[in-house]
Amino acid sequence: MDTMKKKLLWGAFVIALVIAASGYGIHEEIKEDELKIGVSLYIEDDAFVNSIVSSMQTQAMLYEQKVDKKVMLNIACADGSQRQQNKQIEKYIALQYDVICVNLVDRTNAATLIDQVKAADIPLIFFNREPVKEDIFRQEDVYYVGTDSKETAKKQGQAVAELYEKYADIMDKNKDGVLQYVILEGEMGHQDTELRCEYVLQTLAEAGIALEKLDTDTADWLYTPAEAIMEEWAREFGNDIELVLSNNDEMALGAIDALKQANISAAVFGIDATPAGKEAVRKGEMWATVDCDAEQQGKTLLDMATALIENKITEKEGIKEGRYIRVPVTALISENIK
Ligand code: BGC
Repeated sequence: MDTMKKKLLWGAFVIALVIAASGYGIHEEIKEDELKIGVSLYIEDDAFVNSIVSSMQTQAMLYEQKVDKKVMLNIACADGSQRQQNKQIEKYIALQYDVICVNLVDRTNAATLIDQVKAADIPLIFFNREPVKEDIFRQEDVYYVGTDSKETAKKQGQAVAELYEKYADIMDKNKDGVLQYVILEGEMGHQDTELRCEYVLQTLAEAGIALEKLDTDTADWLYTPAEAIMEEWAREFGNDIELVLSNNDEMALGAIDALKQANISAAVFGIDATPAGKEAVRKGEMWATVDCDAEQQGKTLLDMATALIENKITEKEGIKEGRYIRVPVTALISENIK
């Protein structure tokens, strides 16, 4: 096909997409001198993901001042539907966004989306929900920003080990030398769920801590289901629960409230360091969390996006295998354990 025909076809495709996109609640004029960054989130009310987004918004404002150009950071939510997310991405393509940042609904199914964005020659940055490696390497200009899930789990395990050494008398309530535990798991199929569960237990085993599993269940990262699960466990296991390993802070907070209601004391450990999580650690209600630095993740995302727009991505340091940026994580341990 000659270039002219290709251009005409592409133009027709874009017009068709703009028309299609207008049904998805986004009506925008294309302004030439504006930088346009499109974001699509898997759901609207994920506490940790929202902290990343608010950091992106702050960074976008700072960048606007620096380059004296308007940055349009459009945030759309997919309500847990991959179909809806694909539509949002089509809309960003149609409106000729400069960079698209995706918090995937279904992390195992990114190939079509990647090919679509590539066909429009727009750089793509995934974050927090990591596509499989084959997908990341399918096309040029596809990146991932997140944390090292294994490292995060190890930090949680090390925090448990450190506090067990100090507070064995409080943690091992029945004095049998074994910690009876439950695990609150994130969404099935999420890279963080699988790796956090596996490596926290491995770290505890390596530290020589004897453990006995009472139960595990998934609360999909959320407070309310976690609270309900813990209410059930409190009825079933009562005071036998000594240790609660939660894949994130929101679920840990749900567990803490259910334990309070049931008048059971147990050592609860989270991950993320959301504002509410940090507050619970400060009060000694959560024994420790792992700070996954949402602020730095948001900063990194905006920084990568603007580097891609300015064609300076090759100057960026710390990009592993040319595609991955993983922000460092640190344990945040309570100093108020009673
Ligand atoms: C966070 C969770 C969050 C999930 C969403 C995880 O990395 O720890 O809090 O709900 O990502 O994808």
